[in-house]
Amino acid sequence: MSGVNKNIVILISGSGSNMAAIVEAARVRRWQARFGARIAAVVSNKAAAPGLAWAREQGVDTAVLDHAAYGSREAFDAALMVEIDRFTPTLVVLAGFMRILTPGFVRHYAGRIVNIHPSLLPAFTGLKTHQRAIDMGCRFAGATVHRVTDELDHGEILEQAVVPVLRGDTAETLAARVLTQEHVIYPRAIEALLQTA
Ligand code: GRF
Repeated sequence: MSGVNKNIVILISGSGSNMAAIVEAARVRRWQARFGARIAAVVSNKAAAPGLAWAREQGVDTAVLDHAAYGSREAFDAALMVEIDRFTPTLVVLAGFMRILTPGFVRHYAGRIVNIHPSLLPAFTGLKTHQRAIDMGCRFAGATVHRVTDELDHGEILEQAVVPVLRGDTAETLAARVLTQEHVIYPRAIEALLQTA
C-alpha cells in the first residue's frame, strides 16, 4: 500500500511513554507501508508534558491546548475537536490523557477512539488502580486497551496484559511492571484496528 490515508492522533498529558511505544511501533512495524497509517499528531493539555518534546524530535506534529484557558469542559472539548479534526483522524488514541471527556466529544469520535487503563478492567476503574489492587490482595494486575464510551473506563475490551503482584510491591513497583506490558499491548491493539480500519 502506498501513500498515507489513515491518520492517528495521540492525546497525552504526561511522560508519554505509551505514545512513544506507539510511535516506535509505527516505524519499526512499517504501519505506513502496510496500512497507509501514520502518527499524524500528538496533542497535550499540558505544555510541559515531557512526551511533547520527544514527539517533536521524531518529526511528529504537536499541539498544546491548555484546559485551564477554557471556561468549561464543553468549551475545551470543542476546541480540542477542532485541533484533532485538522488531521482527519482514523483513530484517536488516549495515552495517559488525564481529562474526563464530554459525551459530545466521545460521540464525535464514536468507534474510532481508544484508551489504555492500568488495571484489568472491569476491575478498578478510575484512579489509584495499583494501590487498590495491592490493598485488595490481588495476586494479578495488568492493563486494558478498550474502546471509549461516555462511561469512564468502560467500552469493549480490545487487549489485556496480566502481571503478577509480588510480595512487597508498592504502587510504584507494580505500576512499572504494568507499564512495560502497556507498551506491548497498546501498539498491538492499534495494529489490529488498522487492519480493519
Ligand atoms: C499509563 O499507566 C496509562 O495506563 C494511564 O496513564 C499512564 C500513562 O503513562 N492511562 P504514559 O504517559 O504513557 O507514560
